[in-house]
Amino acid sequence: MVELNTTEHYYTGESPSLLWEMTICQSLGDGGGAFARALEKPAAYGRLLGEFLLEETALSRTGGTIIEVGGGYGTLMSGLLQVLSPSRITMIDISTLLLDRQRETLAGISAGTRFVRDDIFTWLARERPESELIILNENCGDFPTLTDIDKQEISSLPTASWLAPGDIPPPGKLTPQQFCAEAARVITTYDLDIIDLPPRFNLNYGALRLLELLAATTINNAFICEHGSDTMLPWPFSLFPSIQPPGNHINPRRISLKDHDEYNIRFDHLEQAAKKLGFTVKRSHLIEMLKLRFDDEIDYLLREGKPESEEQEILLELYEHISEYQVMLLTRA
Ligand SMILES: C[S@@+](CC[C@H](N)C(=O)[O-])C[C@H]1O[C@@H](n2cnc3c(N)ncnc32)[C@H](O)[C@@H]1O
Repeated sequence: MVELNTTEHYYTGESPSLLWEMTICQSLGDGGGAFARALEKPAAYGRLLGEFLLEETALSRTGGTIIEVGGGYGTLMSGLLQVLSPSRITMIDISTLLLDRQRETLAGISAGTRFVRDDIFTWLARERPESELIILNENCGDFPTLTDIDKQEISSLPTASWLAPGDIPPPGKLTPQQFCAEAARVITTYDLDIIDLPPRFNLNYGALRLLELLAATTINNAFICEHGSDTMLPWPFSLFPSIQPPGNHINPRRISLKDHDEYNIRFDHLEQAAKKLGFTVKRSHLIEMLKLRFDDEIDYLLREGKPESEEQEILLELYEHISEYQVMLLTRA
């Protein structure tokens, strides 16, 4: 039976923590720790993201407005502000407690930042904001996922059962009666390939719905980073069996974490939908965005898998963990 996986209970609960997630942004910290030794140019994740955005988009170093969704502990934004000086920042998060952490991290760094406690789906639909950039780092997998969809059942659903655009509730508020109709609507509307999927499959419904809501705003660029279900490692990292993305089998995979589960993202579905919605899309591996080091030490570590010090053990852990991550940049065409 189709179900909806959500993580809202966890993030709006009493003690949401990023401790169990090992997000890449938190792992790299301020760029001075052991994980950052993996980088060609050790720096905070947000700083490297800022440099990447300046290279890949028409974003200017000063001025402009930035929205960050689900900013966790505020670490990404604090690094980003080493490179960019936007005229306005909006941090939006479903978690009051994490929003408080963001306030603490950014105190003194970014006066005038707006902190909004809301579900991104409700907020985008209501505000239809204008902005140069929206950042979604490691949260699309938290957004509602439709699981255990029966291929045959949705293929035979009449379009009359679909919801009209104005009647679609936030993904987390879909009723079981609406699950199949919404799955059929997005698959048909964006011509998503499901032939290669097993008879019962999972769909990143929340992430796809987010793209629809973004298309109805005047946000110029969107940056998305998340675990991917269809990730290929770039060369030379592709040569090492020990770090191939786990279970690379297209169907979004459940990732069990403390008190909540998320799903990795089928990026080719997001790319297909984003293009149909009028965005220009660039996709790459997070290893390329962060410019991970590849030299004799790393070659030996990845080939032999035998760290000779605690530092090397930490390095290897990062290469193994990062292998599944993709980044996607959407620009209004
Ligand atoms: C896995 S954490 C990622 C934190 C941070 N971006 C990082 O990379 O370290 C997910 C973040 O998204 C937020 N979040 C999850 N679902 C959300 C929603 N529907 N609307 C707004 N924020 C949400 C969580 O509260 C949390 O801050």
